[in-house]
This record gives sequence, C-alpha cells and structure tokens, in this order.
Amino acid sequence: MSEAYGHLHASIRSVADDSAELRIRRIRTDRWVSYARAESALAAMEDLLNFPKRTRMPNLLLVGPTNNGKTMIVEKFRRAHPSTPASQTESGAAHVPVLRVQMPAGPDEPRFFGAVLDELGYPHMLTDRITKRQDGALRMMRETQVRVFVIDEVHNILSGSRLQQRRLLNLLRWLGNELQISLVAVGTAEALHAVQSDDQLANRFEPVGLPPWRAGSEYEQLLSTLEAVLPLRLPSDLAEPEIAHKILGMAEGILGEIVSIVVRAAVRAVSSGAETITTDLIDQTGFIAPSQRRRVAV
Ligand SMILES: Nc1ncnc2c1ncn2[C@@H]1O[C@H](COP(=O)(O)OP(=O)(O)O)[C@@H](O)[C@H]1O
Ligand SMILES: [Mg+2]
Repeated sequence: MSEAYGHLHASIRSVADDSAELRIRRIRTDRWVSYARAESALAAMEDLLNFPKRTRMPNLLLVGPTNNGKTMIVEKFRRAHPSTPASQTESGAAHVPVLRVQMPAGPDEPRFFGAVLDELGYPHMLTDRITKRQDGALRMMRETQVRVFVIDEVHNILSGSRLQQRRLLNLLRWLGNELQISLVAVGTAEALHAVQSDDQLANRFEPVGLPPWRAGSEYEQLLSTLEAVLPLRLPSDLAEPEIAHKILGMAEGILGEIVSIVVRAAVRAVSSGAETITTDLIDQTGFIAPSQRRRVAV
C-alpha cells in the first residue's frame, strides 16, 4: 500500500487495496451519504421526538420528487430510535418510539390501520371488523408509546375518491390529536397540495422541502462526500464543474439517479482498471436519463 488515498474517507482507505471483486460489491451496497438538507430534516424530526406532549403536536411534511431521498431520511431516523422488544420493557409491551407505515394505494381506513397493526407486529388483528381494527391500532400505538408517526407515500391518499381523500386527511388530523403524537407525512408535491387544500391541516404541517438538486456548493459537497466513500484508488474530482454538470444533467436533478450514475461509473472504473471516474467513463455506462426511460417504457 503505497498511496495515502487522501481522496478517500479515513474509514475507506484500507478498503482501497482490496480486490476488484470485493470493492465492486462494496460500491454496489447501499450506504447513507450525508448532505445538508437531510441533516436538517433529521434534526427537525429529532425535535419532534423531544417535544412535550400537548394537545396540538407539531407535524412535518417532507416533500420532494420520487427517488430523491425521502424514504432514506425517515428510515435513517427510525434506525436511530429503534424499538425495544416487549421482553425488555417493564410494561411488557414493545416500545416503538418511531412508527413508520406506507399509506396504502387505494387508501381507506381498514387498509391504513391494517398497515399500522402489521408494522407493530399484530397481523392477527387484520381480520377484525373495521372499528375493532381502528380501536386496536390506536390501543397498540398507545401501548407501544409511539411518539413520532411517519406516514410515507402520503400522496397515495390522492388515489382515492374525493370523499376518501377527505376522510383520510381528517383521520390524520384526528390521530395526532387523539394520541398526542407528532406526524411526519412524506410525499410528493401533490401530497403538499392535498394537505394545503385543507386549512386546518395546512397550518399543522410544516413543510420541509427536498427539491430536485441544482448546481451549487451543496451539490458539490454531495459529490465529494460520495467520492470519498467509494474505494477507487485514484481521485476523480467529481465536484469539478464539467463532470458535476454532466452528472446533474443526466440525473435530471434526482438524488437516486445521481447516486446510481456515480455508482455505475465507479464499478466501471474498478473493472476497467481506470480507478477514476471521467466523463468518458460515465458515457460508457449507457445510463438512460429518467425521462427517456419513461419514454422507452411506453
Ligand atoms: N442519503 C443518501 N445516501 C445515499 N444514497 C441515497 C440517499 N438518499 C437517497 N439515496 C439513493 O436514492 C434512492 C432513492 O431514495 P429514496 O429515499 O427511496 O427516495 P424517495 O423516498 O424520495 O422516493 C435510494 O435507493 C438510494 O440509492
Ligand atoms: Mg420513498
């Protein structure tokens, strides 16, 4: 090991001497890459967790396009506050400080509460009548001491009829009050519009935006952070304007695409022996921009 691998994060340097096979596997493994907006979203959720119980709890609405890192953030938050199994609590019920469910497509109350019970590990209650299911879900959320309730894919509410939409939006409002817990709704801009269409909800959900990425220092920082955790033996200087611009354009500003482009290029950089990512190498990966992909699909 002659090089210092100064372009790599200290914890990755020792990996840089591993075989190509091992490094490719590592490059392809999902990892958390920190960036400023994610950290502030995490801090905002952390605040919710520490908020004293009162009738009107603060709520957040994490808004951004698909594939832009929303679920990764709420999952990171949940992992930071794991459940305590029933066997280790005095009450004999598991403690679930952060509960996350997905709003079902074709959203209605039974499905929604079914998702809650499922997530809390009580699938046997799924066959119960609606009211029982709802009561059961609420009771379990109290018993497990849920403090922050994350509802991902909240835009799925919009796939229901007008009446269903209204009922579910009301339900969210009611749930927060009833349980005195904070809600984190996660979804696309359509979800934001749905929530804002209801005056009572609008002023209870503070929007936290994760808009598409644009050129600038935050984006450059993201690329540098990403570069530092991918075990290539040579620096790529991804934050340099030409390559940074190319990646951003191909990704159409979407984080999942940015990560995917860089990961594919990094795999190629290892397998080809180049050990550095260049614009040419990115072209060789045959990446198709998301909007083009959609066109191909139809
Ligand atoms: N913080 C992050 N670090 C590394 N990769 C990320 C991060 N956030 C998102 N990604 C990548 O983007 C993809 C999409 O993220 P996801 O959170 O599922 O988006 P969304 O929920 O907004 O649709 C992930 O599968 C992952 O590859
Ligand atoms: Mg998601």
